[in-house]
Amino acid sequence: MQINKEEKMFLKCECDATNKINIVGLGPGNIKYLSSLGIEYIKNADIVIGSERQLSDLTSIISEKQEKFILPKLSKLPEYLKENLHKKITIVASGDTGYYSIVPYLSKNFSKEILNITPNISSFQYLFSKLGENWQNFQLASVHGRDFDYLKHIKNPEINGLVLLTDDIKNPYEITKNLYNNGERNIEVIVGENLSYDNERITIEKIENFENLNRKFDMNVLILKKI
Ligand SMILES: C[S@@+](CC[C@H](N)C(=O)[O-])C[C@H]1O[C@@H](n2cnc3c(N)ncnc32)[C@H](O)[C@@H]1O
Repeated sequence: MQINKEEKMFLKCECDATNKINIVGLGPGNIKYLSSLGIEYIKNADIVIGSERQLSDLTSIISEKQEKFILPKLSKLPEYLKENLHKKITIVASGDTGYYSIVPYLSKNFSKEILNITPNISSFQYLFSKLGENWQNFQLASVHGRDFDYLKHIKNPEINGLVLLTDDIKNPYEITKNLYNNGERNIEVIVGENLSYDNERITIEKIENFENLNRKFDMNVLILKKI
């Protein structure tokens, strides 16, 4: 459900500091990376909204008195939020709220004044830190449920490489195989799975060894680094 212009204006006029919708970036996932401000917004909420996994990761800071609401289909969310605007709501989102998150969808449905966003570090920033490297010369993108022409963009001489959020279909194996078969060489492939969790796994391979990546991957970030 999309909220029309008049309703959006209404929400804008009616809101005050107590009924903003708080959106909190969780960072890479492990609760140790949550910011103290993020913890405050989660602890002070009447309703905390997130995926099943995110809410279960937050069990130690959400009390039984607080309502946990598992993120529904996106189209159902604005209606639910609207009905509950008299309560304190916090929506949690993975990584950085400014990098492939729910924020653009919420901005389409609610006035910006009503959204109070607390960012955190992204999964890819965490991965670069683990590698002891900087990311400012990399191009950031996502193939998670969307098209991105990585074959074209990897050729850009001005970048050190690409950072891709992946999904099950466009996974690290399929991407590196495709790059290799299209003539790409001199690339280091870095895959960070379940970053910051106990089962974190970081795999580093030369693109020539892409067959070593022919396996099932958990949630991951892929770095294609030119060498
Ligand atoms: C909807 S996007 C959200 C990205 C998030 N805003 C960020 O800054 O990392 C979901 C994708 O982020 C990546 N991701 C998020 N958390 C991750 C983690 N802890 N480990 C590995 N990849 C992660 C995966 O590629 C996943 O498919």
